[in-house]
Amino acid sequence: MEIIDILLEASNRIYENVKDLAGTNDAAGDFGVGAGGDISRNIDVIAEKTVLDYLKEINFECIVLGEECGRVELSDKSKGFFIMDAIDGSANAVRGVPFFCSSLAFATENKLSSITDGVITNLSNGETYWASKNKGAFFNNKQIKVHKKDPVYKIVGINTSGASIELMNKLHSIFENYDHTRHFGANALEMAMFARGLMDIFIDLRNKIRIQDIAAGYVIVKEAGGILLDADLNPLDADLSYETRVSFIAAANQKILDEIMSQINK
Ligand code: IPD
Ligand code: CA
Repeated sequence: MEIIDILLEASNRIYENVKDLAGTNDAAGDFGVGAGGDISRNIDVIAEKTVLDYLKEINFECIVLGEECGRVELSDKSKGFFIMDAIDGSANAVRGVPFFCSSLAFATENKLSSITDGVITNLSNGETYWASKNKGAFFNNKQIKVHKKDPVYKIVGINTSGASIELMNKLHSIFENYDHTRHFGANALEMAMFARGLMDIFIDLRNKIRIQDIAAGYVIVKEAGGILLDADLNPLDADLSYETRVSFIAAANQKILDEIMSQINK
């Protein structure tokens, strides 16, 4: 079985197990603080358990890095890291806002840049985005590319949740000069939608995002032809530790990147 098929099957099982749970009282149950630092909700725990059970069922030899469960060594002959945010957009999932997803990725080394495969499933409808290194990115069964042409409406995705006043001041010109800024509340799904060409740029400069939230998006954006940079405009990379937090910019082309950067630097 190819690794991408394992990620796809695991994502599919999460979807089947949580699709009727979002927005219910049961989704919100409090399991205390998880490895990623946020409260683990019942829906997060059920989704992670689904994946762990499946990986054990097929004896997949790996080290799981889960947002809630932390590091789980399923074998001492590990093939690599299974990076899991079983529910990205947990607040949306608990409230029933139909914008949340699972984000599963596989890396051979302790580095974002060693990610070989990623799958993001929109858990409100089962739509799936996936990519394997050097094999392209797909939405369901259709190959996807970032939006290279000048769009009819330019859409600028910006994550501003919990942003500092300094960051909001830095970003102010973008909000003033662009009529269509967006933030939906699940970074992984936003990266996937960007990769599909639904946004022209997606930026998160808060220095808050965890590896689990962006691991699958990393390979999907790159395979869809996106430019993926850190806050210093170097190619995005980081280690896979639980302490790591990143900022990033995913741009469809150099033109939109330059345009937005000139606004930020003002
Ligand atoms: C969150 C989402 C959200 C972002 C937060 C993340 P979670 O992930 O990606 O868009 O603003 O920083 O923590 O907690 O729902 O997995
Ligand atoms: Ca999560």
